Amino acid sequence: MAIQDQIREIREEIESGIGSYSTSKELYEFRKTFLDNKEGKISQIMKGMKDVPKEDRPAVGKIINEIKEWATSAFDAADKKLHAAELAAKNAAEAIDVTMPAVRETVGGLHPDTLVCNELIEIFSGMGFEIYEGSEIESDYYNFTALNTPADHPARDMQDTFYLSEGFLLRTQTSAGQIHVMENKKPPIKILSPGKVFRSDDDATHSPMFSQMEGLVVDKGISVCDLQGMLDTFSSRIFGEGVKTRLRPSYFPFTEPSVEVDVSCFACGGKGCKLCKGTGWIEVLGAGIVNHRVLENCGIDSTEYSGFAFGMGVERIAMLKYGINNIKNLFESDVRFAKQFKD
Ligand code: PHE
Repeated sequence: MAIQDQIREIREEIESGIGSYSTSKELYEFRKTFLDNKEGKISQIMKGMKDVPKEDRPAVGKIINEIKEWATSAFDAADKKLHAAELAAKNAAEAIDVTMPAVRETVGGLHPDTLVCNELIEIFSGMGFEIYEGSEIESDYYNFTALNTPADHPARDMQDTFYLSEGFLLRTQTSAGQIHVMENKKPPIKILSPGKVFRSDDDATHSPMFSQMEGLVVDKGISVCDLQGMLDTFSSRIFGEGVKTRLRPSYFPFTEPSVEVDVSCFACGGKGCKLCKGTGWIEVLGAGIVNHRVLENCGIDSTEYSGFAFGMGVERIAMLKYGINNIKNLFESDVRFAKQFKD
């Protein structure tokens, strides 16, 4: 076929095909069938130039160039149109309706345990206590023996222990931290030690894992008066102005004397109600004067120094403060429960 005829065919083919594509990608494939440097139909024609008689070459060359230029600009124009349409479609799909109501982001609140912990830390650090965090895995020595509770001591039965291996356990009390502190720091000592403790115990008011807050003060001339004074400040700050404390004799191997600390009922003011079971008092923590044996186990001269210690259950304080009657509520992660503590 004469080159002129081939070119006419190409032109017709392009003219009829170019408008039928709806994506620039398809159009590009179509364009390649004509303008690809190697395989394209126009390039193929150029290759045929060698068979054209010499004198005709300038004229034939001219029309080949013309079709090439025409095809290039026709494809460019068609491509531009498709691209513009594609961009408009993309923009439309991504359009944001600023009048739509926004999705409300809800911000979580702190767990009541954390709220109480933070409050206690604030109260005690205000009184000059430093924070010490012990470890949850302890040796039998730190959890019991150094706290004047040797292997055959009956007080071990007070705390149902989870043993991990011979000599190692999950601490049953933050009191274990007292020993670490006294081994590493000489008096004056004034620390507050918050942390999780573990006991094989499970009912409405006991959980196998709970949190304690331990306090320890060791210095020259520390007495029960210092303990009571500090407890009064603590009680009125956490439960409200006017709340009083009273000490009842108790027993812990690591304190002598030992006391159970009650606060006057902050619900009824001491008259007697459901919360205080009609007694006017609520038990909140254990405390006492550090047993001289414990001081000596840590290399502290008990003729020169004395101290007091106290330990309280954080969940118990939270339950009293917020009127929660089952400790499980604190661990079940029920959003309906947790939501009520957002402030
Ligand atoms: N460790 C004791 C308990 O868990 C509480 C306590 C701490 C008592 C410090 C006295 C002094 O029951």
